[in-house]
Amino acid sequence: MIKTLAVIGVGLIGGSFSRALKAAGVVQRVIGFDLDPDNLAEALQLGVVDEVAADYAAAVSAADLVFLAVPVRAMTAAVTACAPYLPAGCVVTDGGSVKEDLVAACEPLMPEGCHFVGGHPISGTEHSGAKASFATLFQGRRCILTPTGRTNQQALELVQRLWEAAGSRVECMEPLTHDRVFAAVSHLPHMVAYALVHAVDRSAEEEENILAFSAGGFRDFTRIASSDPSMWRDIALMNRLPLLSVLDRYQQEFAALKEKVAAGDGVWLENYFTTSKRLRDEII
Ligand SMILES: NC(=O)c1ccc[n+]([C@@H]2O[C@H](COP(=O)([O-])OP(=O)(O)OC[C@H]3O[C@@H](n4cnc5c(N)ncnc54)[C@H](O)[C@@H]3O)[C@@H](O)[C@H]2O)c1
Repeated sequence: MIKTLAVIGVGLIGGSFSRALKAAGVVQRVIGFDLDPDNLAEALQLGVVDEVAADYAAAVSAADLVFLAVPVRAMTAAVTACAPYLPAGCVVTDGGSVKEDLVAACEPLMPEGCHFVGGHPISGTEHSGAKASFATLFQGRRCILTPTGRTNQQALELVQRLWEAAGSRVECMEPLTHDRVFAAVSHLPHMVAYALVHAVDRSAEEEENILAFSAGGFRDFTRIASSDPSMWRDIALMNRLPLLSVLDRYQQEFAALKEKVAAGDGVWLENYFTTSKRLRDEII
């Protein structure tokens, strides 16, 4: 399907996309470029990419498809750096976790005859870099594509087929809808996990050895607080308004819970937990 794929940012997501498409036999050659030379050398050594490029121009100038998987706040600058060297007909897509501002900034950067398609694979781990990538990361997971009125239909179909070849189920969503949905189901849980670790750490200052008792629940709940701090700084800043809105809603829920604990309202608490359990069981 693709003769030359350029991956910009050969980390967990970029590396896994390359591995998945190579494993599916839908790409002939993958050229990688990454600002971290050690990571890029490791990507080549592990066979995540077939060749490495010294700069954006060398990476994209012969590419049929460019996949950007750099931190979201670096995405627009990376697309700007690639744009002058894109060959005619090239399709550019990304895997960034925030879409509205990013898609609005990247679409107009495309030279005549090149097309941008926003995307976000709903899969990941708390690990980073080429060494963390694996071919089955996207298997059985959703991938959201965020076409707009400017999106070229053939480019959209190509990107959709590639994600399907990587094992994903593709759904399309408006960029702003995407940002609101993922503020609630992904970005808020990360903020809660980060804050919970701080809250327990503060308690540890008062109670000796408290962390020695942290068992399954605390560890399961806070797994995502081990995610890359700079990536989550970027996501929090780029999805600020939708995130603030769900943080407000969370604070209201938490305040109600605190009030009922203080009031000793066992009936309310049991009902509340029963509803939470039912809702969560339905999702799972
Ligand atoms: N990790 C996840 O769970 C997950 C899930 C879905 C989407 N995403 C998105 O995927 C993107 C990449 O995340 P990741 O987890 O693969 O991170 P990562 O840290 O594993 O990889 C990012 C790579 O980009 C490189 N890089 C940074 N700035 C660059 C630039 N300007 N030009 C070239 N290379 C650059 C870094 O050196 C790094 O190797 C982010 O936009 C993130 O929002 C991540």
